[in-house]
Amino acid sequence: MDIVSTPATAEDNLQMADAPPEPKAPAIIQRKDYKPFPWLIPQTHLSFELGLEKTRVTATLTVERNPEAEASPTIRLNGDGLKLGEFKCDGAKCSGHTMDGDDLVVTLEGDSHTLTIVTEIDPSQNTQLMGLFASGGMLCTQCEAEGFRRITFFPDRPDVLSTYTVRMSAPNAEFPVLLSNGNNTDSGEGEGGTHWAEWHDPWPKPSYLFALVAGDLVANSDSFTTMSGREVTLNIYVRDGDLPRTEHAMESLKKSMVWDEETFGREYDLDLFNIVAVSDFNMGAMENKGLNIFNTKYVLADPETATDGNFDAVEGVIAHEYFHNWSGNRITCRDWFQLSLKEGFTVLRDQLFSQDMQGEAVKRIEDVRVLRSVQFPEDSGPLAHPIRPDSYREISNFYTSTIYNKGAEVIRMMRTMAGPDAFRKGTDLYFGRHDGEAATCEDFVRSMEDGAGLELEQFRRWYSQAGTPVVEAVLVHDGDTAALTLKQTVPPTPGQVEKQPMPIPLRIALFDRATATHRGEELVMLTDAEQTFTYEGFAEKPVLSINRGFSAPVTVRRDIPQDELVFLAANDDDPFARYEAMQDLVTDYLTQVAAGSQDDAMRAAIGEAFAAIMQDGDLEDAMRGELMILPGETYLAEQVDAADPGRIHEARQGLKAWLGETFGDQLRALHDRANNVPYGQSAEARGARKVKTLALTFLAAADADGTAKRAAGQYDAADNMTDRQGALMVLAGLNSPERTARLMDFYNRYRGDELTIDKWFATQAASLHPNVIEHVKALAEHPDFTMRNPNRVRSLYMAFAANPQGFHAPDGSGYKLIADVILALDPINPQTAARFVPYLGRFRRIEAGRAKLMRAELERIAASPTLSRDTHEQVSRSLG
Ligand code: PHE
Ligand code: ZN
Repeated sequence: MDIVSTPATAEDNLQMADAPPEPKAPAIIQRKDYKPFPWLIPQTHLSFELGLEKTRVTATLTVERNPEAEASPTIRLNGDGLKLGEFKCDGAKCSGHTMDGDDLVVTLEGDSHTLTIVTEIDPSQNTQLMGLFASGGMLCTQCEAEGFRRITFFPDRPDVLSTYTVRMSAPNAEFPVLLSNGNNTDSGEGEGGTHWAEWHDPWPKPSYLFALVAGDLVANSDSFTTMSGREVTLNIYVRDGDLPRTEHAMESLKKSMVWDEETFGREYDLDLFNIVAVSDFNMGAMENKGLNIFNTKYVLADPETATDGNFDAVEGVIAHEYFHNWSGNRITCRDWFQLSLKEGFTVLRDQLFSQDMQGEAVKRIEDVRVLRSVQFPEDSGPLAHPIRPDSYREISNFYTSTIYNKGAEVIRMMRTMAGPDAFRKGTDLYFGRHDGEAATCEDFVRSMEDGAGLELEQFRRWYSQAGTPVVEAVLVHDGDTAALTLKQTVPPTPGQVEKQPMPIPLRIALFDRATATHRGEELVMLTDAEQTFTYEGFAEKPVLSINRGFSAPVTVRRDIPQDELVFLAANDDDPFARYEAMQDLVTDYLTQVAAGSQDDAMRAAIGEAFAAIMQDGDLEDAMRGELMILPGETYLAEQVDAADPGRIHEARQGLKAWLGETFGDQLRALHDRANNVPYGQSAEARGARKVKTLALTFLAAADADGTAKRAAGQYDAADNMTDRQGALMVLAGLNSPERTARLMDFYNRYRGDELTIDKWFATQAASLHPNVIEHVKALAEHPDFTMRNPNRVRSLYMAFAANPQGFHAPDGSGYKLIADVILALDPINPQTAARFVPYLGRFRRIEAGRAKLMRAELERIAASPTLSRDTHEQVSRSLG
């Protein structure tokens, strides 16, 4: 309340005295306030007496003064909802401690002490899935970022590295397998049907990398010989019936281990590497030292239940978590503002790995598509933040596409500027220089300067400035000279109104129209607000191909005639640039249609390019598929001010229908041809599956009845999930008898298989069906739906929130539905609840009518008196 402008009457004062205290806004943590922790914790000993409803934790910490920090008479041990049981200092009861909020603050007189702390927790009540929680009868932990403080009192910050020894005891029958980080050093039988195990991790680590698992699990076991000849045992632990679905994950792990040795010179450093799959998990997976814990979604895969996309995701996430052993664990983060140090770099590493496994061009296009449909909207909205943020209230909210994907792009630019060999010198220096440390983004940049020979002074702006730069490109031809003028602007973002120019590396080529060739690519560095680059010896005006390979994460607005885009879509030898030309062509057309003007000549040009792509015998199907995919509605909405999602949807569907109608014969022929390729993992077979379903999506827009039959045929004949789910997805959007029958068949066929039933929910929630909202509401009442399982919640509601025609229903019912989900989920799982807020937070970029409805839902959420810190922060930033 503003006491200055509102003079309070005596009555007001009385009421104010009676009113409950205003809920306090959670504290803001600032990057500039970083101070080293005053104490070191050389040894951490944890003893767990495990039970689903009651687990007793005894932590024994050796503490020593940190000679490199400002001395403090007290040590602050973070807690979150913990009750302190026993507390001892140097083996004796002691009184020099108090609670400060959730934290335990202990006064310490000497320079080194041993603290013993007992806490008792109830994992079965832990619906947040942070700390120690129960999942399907097993117990497991999730500690990043601040979950360890829900297990015991500890300096729960990534710059406090400690050597962990863990003892677990548990009833043998329920928990035959007991795992923690490092090596299993001892085990035995206890009393009353219990057993115990001891684990020791020789590598000092921050608390967020601690992990423990206890359960009735079976392992797929294998081994790997490292480059220096050490034998590593590999285990993937799953529930009994899931064992046959672990082979792909195991192969992916071994490939990752070889690749990191060959590409980055990184060898694994323990004799054991364990992976455990759990069904209830907030994120994809977690890189705990020697004991990675995974969402089942990123471990289990077989052709019957996993799509090609699922197979790739398993490979990518297995690699990502494995690569963290060096970029994350051996070198960790000094504080959470440095999160992109490990995440951006590790995403780049997993992207490069997947490029090598699956082919560079298609993987690059997929990665850019994710960046543009998720990160660009984030960067242009109220939640925009630099890859190294300056402040936060709840760190869980900063596990964002900006930190991960833009962070990867920023390091990729360094690699582009240095070239792969010099880049490797930079990473070698980084790994060598900072091994065993909690480092900063600045440390990484300096290693790149010193090791890769880059000059990165101005480049550091990529770490501090948010917002996607826009580059305007104009090519002028005069006599013999082509002059390329590039202008950049970095849009204002919350808290950053004024921006400095960024250094932007753009790979370009100038094509000779007649021969469809160029003289070689070059890397142009745009460093100023505006620069002109001139090229001699062009008798004719060349065609500009720019930001090839997506060398910089920027939006390029090129002033280029339509026929040149058509030329590039047909002829560019850089596959990304070819894709981009097609996307630009379609984007220009669709944004015009959405704005009310229909250019038939332009549509005809698109049709010609589309037909050429379908018929190009030199193209692999995987790439053909990429070129055929129309830009997504979220991306299209980003290209205009005050977007009307309804008109964008209609425009895009209209083009699909026209293409489906005009090229029906070719699309049916493509579908037939692809249908005859037998199932397999070859690039050819995978490509065929991709274009097969894609062909259906165009045909469905033009001819619902005929395509329903065709899709049903694909469904019925399917011997793999890619074809089956693809067909089901098409059917789910159609009002046809085939739809209901196949949806029922799918459910009955896979009933009880969690991950596949997730697909059943997601396919319906993401469908183009006009009644999708009613379907989602009905599915929420389905006995298989639960708010307790994040995969299930995401498969129903995230799929819906990302479905523009449902979410953006003109009457606001989609917004209300998602707001209701946030309110209902917040008390159960705030981290997952908060992840829905950005969908509503985009209102400033949407036309006024819908924007008002979106904003009203945000305000309704904000009015709830009991919001979690997670949701509170996202809603208040969104309302700004
Ligand atoms: N660090 C994990 C990863 O990117 C992500 C994660 C964050 C998982 C927080 C759980 C909790 O690999
Ligand atoms: Zn990661």
